[in-house]
Amino acid sequence: MTARLAGKVAIVTGAGRGIGAATVRRLAAEGASVVASDIDADAVAAVAEQLGDAVVARQADVTDEAAVAALVDTAVERFGRLDVLHNNAVSSSAEDTDTVRTPDSLWRATFDVVVMAAVYGCRHAIPVMVKTGGGSIITTSSGAAHAATATRVAYGTAKAAVETLSLYTAANFGQAGIRSNVVAPGFVLTEGIRGIFDDEMINKFGAASAAGRVCLPEDVADVVAFLASDDSGYVSGQVLTVNGGGARGVSW
Ligand SMILES: NC(=O)c1ccc[n+]([C@@H]2O[C@H](COP(=O)([O-])OP(=O)(O)OC[C@H]3O[C@@H](n4cnc5c(N)ncnc54)[C@H](O)[C@@H]3O)[C@@H](O)[C@H]2O)c1
Repeated sequence: MTARLAGKVAIVTGAGRGIGAATVRRLAAEGASVVASDIDADAVAAVAEQLGDAVVARQADVTDEAAVAALVDTAVERFGRLDVLHNNAVSSSAEDTDTVRTPDSLWRATFDVVVMAAVYGCRHAIPVMVKTGGGSIITTSSGAAHAATATRVAYGTAKAAVETLSLYTAANFGQAGIRSNVVAPGFVLTEGIRGIFDDEMINKFGAASAAGRVCLPEDVADVVAFLASDDSGYVSGQVLTVNGGGARGVSW
């Protein structure tokens, strides 16, 4: 693999597993130094320990602004700068159903972990990135922001909000050298998803996709690495859907 990200320093949130962990591995493989963070300290430590000195693990709850600010401080203290922020952490609940039944507490918790976490990340990362000429912010959204499913109204609505946040960030700070983009996966076969669906269902999803297979966390990490790199230097304010071309007659 080329060292396309050599010299760049990144923060990835929600890096203990799934898409975040795959992204840390991919960014490091391309030469970046990475602050890998997660609310689950053990999980993120396990990801980092396979990757050597270029990856440092930090426990951080992204709903806590001081903890997010500390991640930016860590990037600067350990690696001297910050070039890339991947807002990726998420938590979800079976209580997130529809507009009538989803409780206020869950609406607020979902907006905190999706929207306010990205606000905190941008607020603390941008001034530091600007000092060294700019940077790239990548936020993970979801197909749930673009098409309604039977449940998860708060999740889908929060993801739509964070896409607009990314657009404003691109517009407001573009001339300061900040690019801001969104990756919006469809169904991704993470460890968490493997626990929910059996092989037959997973194969059905793959067969229904235009790509003929399910999306892996690494497929999303590939796109994050592109958006982190100078190869996407004139790409900003975009939502890049990563769904293999969509489903053929199956909605998820
Ligand atoms: N897996 C999919 O099918 C899919 C589809 C579309 C979008 N996404 C999005 O991709 C991103 C990653 O999803 P995933 O499937 O890899 O998730 P995951 O559940 O596998 O991992 C999420 C990570 O975030 C961490 N986390 C939870 N709350 C946190 C908090 N408050 N602070 C810091 N870390 C916290 C968890 O500990 C976990 O390690 C999310 O933004 C998700 O909405 C996933």
